Amino acid sequence: MGSIVISPEKGNYICRIEVYIKVVHLRIIFIKCNQGLFTGGGNKMKKIIWDDEFFDVGHEILNKQHKKIIELLNQLSADTDETISTETFYFKFKELQPYLKQHLKYEERLLEDIGYAGIEAHKEVHASYLGDMAKYMKFAEANAPDQRSEIKLFLFDWWRSHILEEDMQYKKHF
Ligand SMILES: [Fe+2]
Ligand SMILES: [Fe+2]
Repeated sequence: MGSIVISPEKGNYICRIEVYIKVVHLRIIFIKCNQGLFTGGGNKMKKIIWDDEFFDVGHEILNKQHKKIIELLNQLSADTDETISTETFYFKFKELQPYLKQHLKYEERLLEDIGYAGIEAHKEVHASYLGDMAKYMKFAEANAPDQRSEIKLFLFDWWRSHILEEDMQYKKHF
């Protein structure tokens, strides 16, 4: 039986093709993250488009929770300043909090159970998010009129980048 011998030059060529494919793949992810998955801007409605290929973190329950969170954020975003009052916006915003916190706790417990090495750093990121949310909850309690866009922007940016960047780092451990 013959074997395939790859010359150093050919090996180098194959290596270059692999690098090129990876760069193209990363570029596609980048374009999707910046255009396809996240639409709208300013006061316009924002929407994160769920895509299993990009949001899959390797655990069925976490995926379901993330999907639900994105759905809830999209619903919150669909209500504009014209369609609901500031009071109703804050009511909906506050209603979201237990579910979001529950997810963070569940995820932390799960990562502890599997002995994930990055657990402490991951918990710190969650804690920092909860600190920001405490600030926004004060706005909600005060029914602050000018914070709606900022809150929506924060929620969308945080959850989208957290799932795609930090959460994605534990994928290989499941
Ligand atoms: Fe997380
Ligand atoms: Fe998560």
